Amino acid sequence: MDSKHYYNPDGEEILDEKLYGGAPTGFVDFNRSKYRWDSTIYDLMNANTWFPSEVNTSAEKKNFEALTDNEQAIYKMTFAQLSFNDSAQEEYLSDFRRLANNRLVKAVLSLQIMQEVNHSKSYATLLDACGNSEEVFNLYKHDEVLNRKNRRIAEQFARYIDGGSADKMLLSAMASVNLEGIYFLLGFSYIYALGDKVPGARDMIKFIARDELNTHLPLFVNIFKTLRKENDIGTATIDAVYEMIRDAVEIELDYGKYLLKRYPIMGLTEELMEKTVYNYANDRLNRIGLDPVFPDSSTTYLQKLVTKHLEMNEIRGNFFESNISNYAKSSINLDDF
Ligand SMILES: [Fe+2]
Ligand SMILES: [Fe+2]
Repeated sequence: MDSKHYYNPDGEEILDEKLYGGAPTGFVDFNRSKYRWDSTIYDLMNANTWFPSEVNTSAEKKNFEALTDNEQAIYKMTFAQLSFNDSAQEEYLSDFRRLANNRLVKAVLSLQIMQEVNHSKSYATLLDACGNSEEVFNLYKHDEVLNRKNRRIAEQFARYIDGGSADKMLLSAMASVNLEGIYFLLGFSYIYALGDKVPGARDMIKFIARDELNTHLPLFVNIFKTLRKENDIGTATIDAVYEMIRDAVEIELDYGKYLLKRYPIMGLTEELMEKTVYNYANDRLNRIGLDPVFPDSSTTYLQKLVTKHLEMNEIRGNFFESNISNYAKSSINLDDF
């Protein structure tokens, strides 16, 4: 690596650093942000900081054992898949970060990497309390459909990660929009559907979901939109974005329907899953500035469960009042800075 990668006194001014391409001087200066969203999301990520040890898991084993056989299977298969998502995301982010030029955006990605590791730690803490950590982390070896979902997510991550153009970086960012915005969602909603029966798992998922949906997804929505704004992105690339989200919907429903068929639990149906995933996919398309293409339906029960647990009122300190006045509003919109 050239030393200019670390310090380049003749490099571009901080405020001129684009997201893709360029030669930054090498400073991370939070007082000079080219984009407002980067430092705002960084502050919100920090305000949301939590640790797995804060979640009470002392009754998890007893609670888990009181679940029906199908509920236990859903619990295990959900954590087996979600834990893969976070493990893969940490590694992907470390690679994606190299495609970025703007130092402040890279700094925000560094914090996101730390949070994904924290999520991995939380699964280990929870499953250790539950007494089935080894079994759950090894399920991929025995279940072909779980293995298939993980493999397809990994393939999406790998496809454009070598970069080389703004278009490829945009497509690589789309893999993360899918991960943060689609691949977690049925899993989150299953745990919320079990709800009070497993409060340890529910509370752990609540913290993880807030990170994924309140900050990580907005971060990648902004990365996507900024890349589009700063570069002449081809229509073939946008076609490929649509193909990626169609794949994501298929990947999420493939695993969801499989679990439902094998381990039916009260209140879940195929139709409900489809409506939920289509609604999320349309929302993600809207947010990255593209037209929704999936059948539209009213907000589902599963979506309402996820939204209910996203409320930030338990956030530490007085972040919304004291730090950034915009957040005092009831809904947070980090997508449009
Ligand atoms: Fe995560
Ligand atoms: Fe994430």
